[in-house]
Amino acid sequence: MDLEKMQEAARKLKIGQTGRHIFLCCDQNVPKCCQKELSIASWEYLKHRVEEMNLQGHVHLWRTKANCLRVCTNGPIAVVYPDAIWYHSCTPEVLEKILQEHLVKGNIVEEFRITVS
Ligand code: FES
Repeated sequence: MDLEKMQEAARKLKIGQTGRHIFLCCDQNVPKCCQKELSIASWEYLKHRVEEMNLQGHVHLWRTKANCLRVCTNGPIAVVYPDAIWYHSCTPEVLEKILQEHLVKGNIVEEFRITVS
């Protein structure tokens, strides 16, 4: 194990400063929640906007492409941690709302939140 190399990578990634982390169902092996092309378009939009808005530096936002988040309907599906808020229908337009409201201001976008009754 190369502990020094790992710690250097962690330092560069500013791991200890993470604020929120968004996972997006995308580029699935078996696309169930939406068309694969839509999930890829959403992922590309998310990546582009996180960089353009400097959200990693500004609010310590991380983004990760997930193969499937197991909801498998009404996608693309996303989840934001540590809040544990799940969203459906994450098109680029909806992701923009989530970025502006939840990830920048901390306001949950109730209109697209998945709730359990
Ligand atoms: S395929 Fe998107 S949540 Fe399962």
